[in-house]
Amino acid sequence: MKNSIVINADVEKGTINRNIYGHFAEHLGRCIYEGIWVGEDSPIPNTKGIRNDVLEALKQINIPVLRWPGGCFADEYHWKDGIGPRSERKRMVNTHWGGVVENNHFGTHEFMLLCELLDCEPYICGNVGSGTVQEMSEWVEYMTFDGESPMANWRGENGRQEPWNVKYFGVGNENWGCGGNMRPEYYADLYRRYQTYVRNYGDNKIYKIAGGANVDDYNWTEVLMREAGRLMDGLSLHYYTIPGEFWTGKGSATNFPEDEWFITMQKALHMDELITKHGTIMDKYDPEKRVGMIIDEWGTWFDVEQGTNPGFLYQQNTIRDALVAAVHFHIFQKHSDRVQMTNIAQTVNVLQAMVLTEGDKMILTPTYHVFDMYKVHQDATLLSVDATVGSYKYNDQEVPQVTVSASKDKDGKVNISLCNIDHKESASLSIQLRGIAEQISSLTGTILTADTIDAHNTFEQPEVVIPTEFTQASIENDQLDVTLPPMSVVLLTIG
Ligand code: AHR
Repeated sequence: MKNSIVINADVEKGTINRNIYGHFAEHLGRCIYEGIWVGEDSPIPNTKGIRNDVLEALKQINIPVLRWPGGCFADEYHWKDGIGPRSERKRMVNTHWGGVVENNHFGTHEFMLLCELLDCEPYICGNVGSGTVQEMSEWVEYMTFDGESPMANWRGENGRQEPWNVKYFGVGNENWGCGGNMRPEYYADLYRRYQTYVRNYGDNKIYKIAGGANVDDYNWTEVLMREAGRLMDGLSLHYYTIPGEFWTGKGSATNFPEDEWFITMQKALHMDELITKHGTIMDKYDPEKRVGMIIDEWGTWFDVEQGTNPGFLYQQNTIRDALVAAVHFHIFQKHSDRVQMTNIAQTVNVLQAMVLTEGDKMILTPTYHVFDMYKVHQDATLLSVDATVGSYKYNDQEVPQVTVSASKDKDGKVNISLCNIDHKESASLSIQLRGIAEQISSLTGTILTADTIDAHNTFEQPEVVIPTEFTQASIENDQLDVTLPPMSVVLLTIG
């Protein structure tokens, strides 16, 4: 079947919030320690303790916002343990993640430095599960108060006179689970209380994010919006793509049968339904769409790599992960009237990572390349797209074979991203470009694809899955003909 797509370049649907391309880095496994922080005395080249190779790789993908310190870790984290001279910082056990010793060498100052070096917004997640209102309130004061105050003075003593700008602040994480096992009614009340003391000091205006639902817990969203909607700027949602079962076997990241490819795509596409249904509840209480949906944990979650600490959540990353990322971005962009931020889990060495490290070596994952290709969509204008596409069938099930999204950048260039999630069949596309025909002067394309469903980059072969020039597109007047190879992500730019 010839898939037929119309890009309505003259029908604009609002701005794609750059924060949709956000990230998440937790004190978990080798994400922070080794993946980002190696310390100033490390033989691995670093900038004030942050490894340079990872820094440079992450700068390239224009990370707009970075969530920290967790995750589950956030509701056990006591920020005062992570400031002052590093040699004197308290050591604790990271009970959630591997039971390893956390030396608190990467704390508030180090995280803010990382954000400055990456030129991204910090998104801090506060501790509701085991922390006090005072502790949360003082953290905000420590970071953002300008002038004379106990916390601002302390910040100065620790070497930082100027306050930082902290825009995004989460009031707890997964408070239905690792963040306190609460009922939504109870958490809604706690949210109301804690957020009262998350103050705006000076010009720093905080965007407050309430801990949201797990997957399809629509009641959580209902209760939070009803009881606390007017006191929040954002409400989170967590959903991971897991081909198997969470507790009994999630499936391997690299060694998986064909049906797990299909199931993975099907489960990635489920994000659309979740956003639609949670969004409908939000619409009931917030028809103006003032409150953002903040999908601050998403991505693939597979079994850990053999021989690695089960609590470190280290997994490889294949062309399948790249397609999962692309499918998600198309969905997020479609819902960009409500989805104001998303944060893939996680940036380095954990779950669906951008980069993997081994000692002083680093490789870029297929997912990294999707973020790199798709950065053109950040802050661009979403365009209306009408798509009639065929099905990708597997046994008695089917999903759309192709997903698409398009945007116009500030220079008027149109970027169309496409993915063919079928691992066997190519897809022929007939794309009509409405509303720009007489202005078209150039067409360029980039493709990320592979020959096998498990293709991935390794420290020995780091360039098995990398973007290359895409040549299977031709344009005549307003008609674009494209052939997408199986399991491919393509970005077309029309100037
Ligand atoms: O990203 C890993 C963990 O998944 C996070 O710590 C937690 O919030 C979620 O359950």
